[in-house]
Amino acid sequence: MSELTPQTDRAQWKSRFGFILAAAGSAVGLGNIWKFPYITGQNGGGLFVLIYLACIVLIGLPIMMAEIMIGRAGQRQPVGAFESIHGRKTAWSGIGWMGVVAGFIILSFYIVVAGWSMDYTLKSIVNFTKPIESKAATEAEVYIATTSISDMKLFLVNKETDRQLHPRKTLLESRLTKSQKENYERFRTAIEKAEDQDQARLRLLKDEELKSSVEAVEKVEQQVAKARLEIAGSVQTKINSLSATDLLAQVKLSKRRDLVFEKMTGTFVNLLTNGWHSLMWAALFMMVAIGVVAGGVAAGIERACRFLMPTLIALIGMMVLYGAFQPGFGAAVSFVFSPDPSRLKASGVLEALGHAFFTLSLGMGAMMTYGSYQSSKTGLLQESVMITLLDTAIALLACLMIFPITFSYGQEPTAGPGLVFMSMPLAFAEIGRTGMLLSMAFFGLLFFAALTSAISLLEVVASYLIDQKNWSRAKAAVTTGLLTLVVAVPTAFSSDSTSVLSNWEGDYGLNFFDTMDHLASNWMLPLGGLFIAIYAGWVMPRRLQEAEVEDMPAWIFQVWLVLVRVVAPALVIIVLMQKVGIFDIDEWL
Ligand code: PHE
Repeated sequence: MSELTPQTDRAQWKSRFGFILAAAGSAVGLGNIWKFPYITGQNGGGLFVLIYLACIVLIGLPIMMAEIMIGRAGQRQPVGAFESIHGRKTAWSGIGWMGVVAGFIILSFYIVVAGWSMDYTLKSIVNFTKPIESKAATEAEVYIATTSISDMKLFLVNKETDRQLHPRKTLLESRLTKSQKENYERFRTAIEKAEDQDQARLRLLKDEELKSSVEAVEKVEQQVAKARLEIAGSVQTKINSLSATDLLAQVKLSKRRDLVFEKMTGTFVNLLTNGWHSLMWAALFMMVAIGVVAGGVAAGIERACRFLMPTLIALIGMMVLYGAFQPGFGAAVSFVFSPDPSRLKASGVLEALGHAFFTLSLGMGAMMTYGSYQSSKTGLLQESVMITLLDTAIALLACLMIFPITFSYGQEPTAGPGLVFMSMPLAFAEIGRTGMLLSMAFFGLLFFAALTSAISLLEVVASYLIDQKNWSRAKAAVTTGLLTLVVAVPTAFSSDSTSVLSNWEGDYGLNFFDTMDHLASNWMLPLGGLFIAIYAGWVMPRRLQEAEVEDMPAWIFQVWLVLVRVVAPALVIIVLMQKVGIFDIDEWL
C-alpha cells in the first residue's frame, strides 16, 4: 500500500523549541482569551479555576501526551497514523476522520470570531471609542439638565440597587435546577392561558413534582425580592444624604456609562448582524492562515509562531502590568484565585472538563498532526508539560488582564461571550487616550492567538490531502481553506436578522455557538479524546509506546497509563452522559 511506505521527504520541524511554540500556538487561542475568562466569570471564579486546573492535569496533559505519541509513532496525520502504526487498515482511523470533520467545523466558526478581532483591531487603530464616549457624555449632560432631582434620585437608586443585587440574585437563582425552572415555566404559561387563574393554579399544583418546583422557584423569588428591598433601603439612605453636586456627578457618570454601553453593544451587534461584513473579515483571516499553511511546516507554521507567540506573550504581559495598577486588580485576583463553593454549580465542573479539551486543542488530532512532524523519540513529557503550562499560564493571565479592567470600570465579570467585544471596549473608552493603545494591543493579540490556532486547524485538514492523497501543500491549503470559507458562510450570516437584535441581551453569542461550537467542542472533541485515551492506553502496540517514553521515569509512565486507561475515559463518559441528558448532575449532587 503506497500510503504505508515511509515518506523520506516528509516535512519536519526545524527544532524542538519550534515544535513547542507551534503546538502552544495551537493551544493558545480564542479559547484562552475569549472563552476562558467569560466562563470563569459565569461560573463564579476561584473554585471553577481550581477544578479546571485539575482537569488539565488529570485529563488534558495525559491525552496531550497520547496524541503526540501517536503522531510521532505513526509519522502521519490522524487519518493515516493508525494505519501506519498497525501496518493495515484499522477502524481506529475513524478517530482521524472525526478529527478532520471537527477541524473543519471548528475552523468555520473560529474564523468568524477571529475576523471580528481583526475588525476590532482596525477599529482601535482609528480610535472608535472616542466618538462614542463624547456623544454619550453630551447626552448625559442633556439628561441631567432636563430631569427633575427626584427622577434622577429614582434612576440612581434603581441602578445602584440592581448592581448590588446582581451577585446575590445570581447566587440565589443558581440553587434552582434546570428542571425546576422548566417546570415553573410550564406552570406559568399554563396559568396565563387559563381563564380562571386561581383555579388553574390549584388544579396544576395537585401534581407533586410541579408543586415542589413551583414552591422552590417562588421561594427564591421571595428571597430576591426581600434582598432587593433591603438593598434599596440602604441605597436610598445613602443617595438621600448625597450633596447636590455629588448626586449630579454620580447620575452623570452612571448615565454616561449606560449610554456608552448601549452604543458599544450596538457597535458589536452591527457587526454580528451584518453577515457580509463578518464574512469579509473571515475571508481575509482565512487568506492569512492559508498563506501560512501553504508556506510549509518549518518555513510557514514554525516561522510564523516563532514571531507571533513571543509577541503575544509580550502584549499580554503589558496588559496585565497595566491591570496591576488599576483599582480593580485586587478584586480580580481574589475573584480568579479564591475558591468560593457557593458560587459554583456541579455543571460548572463539566464545563471545566469540556473546556480543557478545547483549550489544549485535544480530541481532533491537531497535536497528533504536529507531533507527526517530529521524528525525535525523546522529550515527550517535557514537551507536553511545556505546551500545557504555556496554555494554562496564558489563560490565567488573560483573566488577570481582563478582570482588573472590567472591575475597575464597573463591568460585570459574568458578561458572557460579549465580554471581550463589549465590556472590554467599554473600559477602553473610559480609559481615554491610553485606552486606544490598550485596545489595539488587546485585539491585536486576540488576532495573533486566533491565527496560530487556526493554522493548526487548517493543517489537520490540509495534511490529510497532503499525506493520504499526495496533494501539493499549496493546493491542499488553498482548497481546504476555501472550502472552510464556504462552510463559514451560514455561520457568518447566522445572526444576520433583525430578530436577533430584539433579544441580543439573552446571549445571542450562544445562538451562534449553539450550532457549530456545541457540535464540535461538546461532542466531537470529548468523544475523540475518549477514543484517543483508550487507544493509547489499551490498544497501541507496547513496543512503539515504549520507544516514545524511553527517557521518561518509569513511575511517571505508570501514572500516565492509569490516567489514560481509566481516569480520563471515566470522566469523559460522565460528561457525555450528562450531555445526552441521562442525568442532571446538578440534581444529583
Ligand atoms: N485550542 C484552541 C483555543 O483555545 C482551539 C483549538 C481547538 C485549536 C482544537 C485547534 C484544535 O482557542
